[in-house]
Amino acid sequence: MSREKQSVVIAGGGSTYTASIVMLLIENQDKFPLRKLRLYDNDAQRQEPIGKACEIIVKERAPEVEFTYTTDPEEGFSDVDFVMAHIRVGGLPMREKDEKIPLKYGVVGQETCGPGGIAYGMRSIPDVIELIDYMEKYSPNAWMLNYSNPAAIVAEATRRLKPDSKIINICDMPVAIKKSLADILGLDSENDIVDRYYGLNHFGWWTEMYDKDGNDLMPQLKEHVKKYGYASANDDITNPLLAEASWNDTFVKAKDLYALDPDTLPNTYLKYYYYPDYVVEHANPNHTRANEVMEHREKNVFEECRRIVENGTAEDTSIVPGEHAEFIVQLASALAYNTNERMLLIVKNNGAISNLDPEYMVEVPCIVSKRGVEPLAMGPVPTFQKGLIEQQVSVERLVVDAYLEKSYQKLWQALTLSKIVPSASVAKELLDDLIEANKDYWPELS
Ligand code: NAD
Ligand code: G6P
Ligand code: MN
Repeated sequence: MSREKQSVVIAGGGSTYTASIVMLLIENQDKFPLRKLRLYDNDAQRQEPIGKACEIIVKERAPEVEFTYTTDPEEGFSDVDFVMAHIRVGGLPMREKDEKIPLKYGVVGQETCGPGGIAYGMRSIPDVIELIDYMEKYSPNAWMLNYSNPAAIVAEATRRLKPDSKIINICDMPVAIKKSLADILGLDSENDIVDRYYGLNHFGWWTEMYDKDGNDLMPQLKEHVKKYGYASANDDITNPLLAEASWNDTFVKAKDLYALDPDTLPNTYLKYYYYPDYVVEHANPNHTRANEVMEHREKNVFEECRRIVENGTAEDTSIVPGEHAEFIVQLASALAYNTNERMLLIVKNNGAISNLDPEYMVEVPCIVSKRGVEPLAMGPVPTFQKGLIEQQVSVERLVVDAYLEKSYQKLWQALTLSKIVPSASVAKELLDDLIEANKDYWPELS
């Protein structure tokens, strides 16, 4: 089948993930052929080494693809079919603050969960909306595939502010977990697992997993998860994520999440909500995940890109196609070529979870075609999950209220309601600290 060529802009061109996504796109020219590939960032200096290196990569491996990088929105967003958005407003230095400020109060400090996620959400909303405005101005028929975090809050903000926009919010955590489960089961790929799942972004549960022949995989998986979580039973690690100690811990910890509800398999992010005391005890308030990322992923990617530019070739590059991005290519292909792919996406509930408000932004399996996404019916959720979801979704909605109304009160309520903040007084101290740290980004609250 001949497939029409697509034009893609990656927004957040200077991201630590960009080079590996470019590599992946280049290697998928049979499945998702490109006519144009562009990087867009609002920080020219940040994007420069990545842009130059990607230029060399594309010239060497797919010279037929027209490649450019820019900080000009018109150039970036004109004549595109897809915007792949992964911006980080405030960069990794602000992630570091999101993680370290809560820890000063003995509260979990995490990129997308609790106070850190709330602070990051307040920063992300205006910039993601700005990207949508650019897309709609310069390429009104394009789709935005957004995985800028915190995806749950961004999704709620776009539902409210841009209800008719062609934006789909996605996350790679379920994919990463399923990759590990496929390894454990000896399956070739996570795509060999057909699943049923419900919840919010970074806050969900699997109820069923089947193989392509319809065989139930849950009994075998539950036996494994009970003992080893999502890590493998032996040392031969094939999932690159598990090579990192902090991720390996998270995957092992899944066994304690599973213990709470043996009827389902949990998203790893539930550890921050079920076991915040454990997470805080095991955190180093002076050295958090942001520091690890800056010392490793960011440093390595930028060094490698600079090396490519100096040598003028990427023939021997260590940059590999980003496994974590495969699902973005799958999603774009489904929309472009009407593949009717089944994927977990963040969408308006609309009855998919029958005992939750139809307006909530939930994460459920969807069918993706040229016409967009259609969520599948997951039925009602049990009391335990319903209680947790109602609380968390209310936090996310209050953050968006706070942003829109510039309301101190609403943000204080959001922090107080967050399951991992112990009291309204801690919430207030935290809020005052976060306001100070985010004064260049947040609207002024009153
Ligand atoms: P990074 O800081 O290395 O890169 C982000 C880039 O975005 C930077 O180059 C920055 O200049 C740019 N940027 C910031 N604001 C912008 C704006 N308004 N317009 C254009 N560009 C802008 O961050 P990273 O660690 O590579 O992560 C990138 C993003 O991807 C983060 O939001 C991260 O949370 C997200 N992410 C999400 C998932 C998921 O599951 N949804 C998975 C991985 C990463
Ligand atoms: C997973 C999540 C993302 C999150 C990332 C953080 O992939 O799904 O939403 O941004 O982890 O990973 P890092 O390596 O930056 O800590
Ligand atoms: Mn995610």
